[in-house]
Amino acid sequence: MVRNASESAPVPAEGVNSTANSAVVVVVVAVVSSLAVLALLVAILYYCYIRQKVRHKPYPAKIRKRIPEQELRMVNIIPPEAQVFTYKQLQFATNNFSRVNVIGHGGFGSVYRGVLTDGRLVAIKQLDREGKQGDREFRVEVDMLSRLHSPYLLELVGYCADKDHRLLVYDYMPNGSLQEHLYSDGISGNPPLLDWATRLRIALDAARGLEYLHECVTPPIIHRDFKSSNILLDDNFHAKVSDFGLAKLGSAEIGGHVSTRVLGTYGYVAPEYALTGHLTTKSDVYSYGVVLLELLTGRVPVDMKRPPGQGVLVSWALPRLTDRNKVKDMVDPMLEGQFAMKDLIQVAAIAAMCVQPAADYRPFMTDVVQSLVPLVKHTSSAKVIMTPDFNHNIVTLKSSSIDSGASN
Ligand SMILES: Nc1ncnc2c1ncn2[C@@H]1O[C@H](COP(=O)(O)OP(=O)(O)OP(=O)(O)O)[C@@H](O)[C@H]1O
Ligand SMILES: [Mg+2]
Repeated sequence: MVRNASESAPVPAEGVNSTANSAVVVVVVAVVSSLAVLALLVAILYYCYIRQKVRHKPYPAKIRKRIPEQELRMVNIIPPEAQVFTYKQLQFATNNFSRVNVIGHGGFGSVYRGVLTDGRLVAIKQLDREGKQGDREFRVEVDMLSRLHSPYLLELVGYCADKDHRLLVYDYMPNGSLQEHLYSDGISGNPPLLDWATRLRIALDAARGLEYLHECVTPPIIHRDFKSSNILLDDNFHAKVSDFGLAKLGSAEIGGHVSTRVLGTYGYVAPEYALTGHLTTKSDVYSYGVVLLELLTGRVPVDMKRPPGQGVLVSWALPRLTDRNKVKDMVDPMLEGQFAMKDLIQVAAIAAMCVQPAADYRPFMTDVVQSLVPLVKHTSSAKVIMTPDFNHNIVTLKSSSIDSGASN
């Protein structure tokens, strides 16, 4: 027969009773402290688990840089400040659009170097396309750029919409576009090659340009055509983002998108935008990642002449970027010996995040800027490996009428 414990327990004497009480207290204290230690352990484990999860979570849409009120520039309240030029004034500035003044050609038309009557050196873009798209790009460029002001964006000096003429007048950038330097052969007379420190600084300047568009403007502006030929370099190789003809106002809602026709440049367009037409600031982040890969590898975004599997830069680079052993082999050979391995790994990690196929996993431009700042700070002062006789696109302003224009 099984008996109840109380039945079998002998009745304790008084001295025995106080000893038993202190034993109970000891047991209770021991149990309570073990429970407390256990609770603490569980809390620590839970904290570690949550941290781990957060680290692997996509970038939450709500994290946005807090920008001081005075820095915020509402797109629709700042009046345009661009100067209006007559066609005649620009004819005069470019020596009647002389061929010697041509510094480049793009989708919009030819670009000329010119001098305004006050002596200011400018780049003048002449629309040479007919049709609605060209006119629309012209209007968007004037509308947006004349309201935006940042040291990281190319300044629009003015425009001309005289009769059928459509021209845009910008600050002249003596070192041309990043693209010209990345794919130069570096020989005499051609654009100089860029060293590691200069490339990092250009990456940071360009990131700041996009950060300004995404974070300092309400609603945000999506550039839509961010690429190495739209990053221009001043005389100190500081970079400015240019070409807003395809720019679009993004959704004012956090995490929202706008639906639009797919425009941009092959090799730079984010996959989700190409597939669905859904445009967000993260589409620009993808294009930025492609430019970062160009800076790292010295390879163009799409080159079908390369061996199979290497033609599309992102597909070739992505698996290598997070592999310590492979990442060194993918770096532009001309950067050999110029970087610390830990810096390279960090830049590669930023590029890998930016070109993630899923937009939510890409960082915000603010995150990119913050990751690049310390890298640029501790990298030795930037210097450019100059090629002798380099003169951007070999154009000189020798014409007498331009000289006289400058002095007027
Ligand atoms: N403000 C400027 N200062 C100096 N050079 C410039 C300036 N703007 C453009 N250029 C030169 O003109 C070239 C052509 O520029 P443009 O923006 O027309 O074409 P793109 O960027 O090559 O192509 P896309 O039309 O697709 O943007 C640039 O690569 C650059 O060398
Ligand atoms: Mg351009």
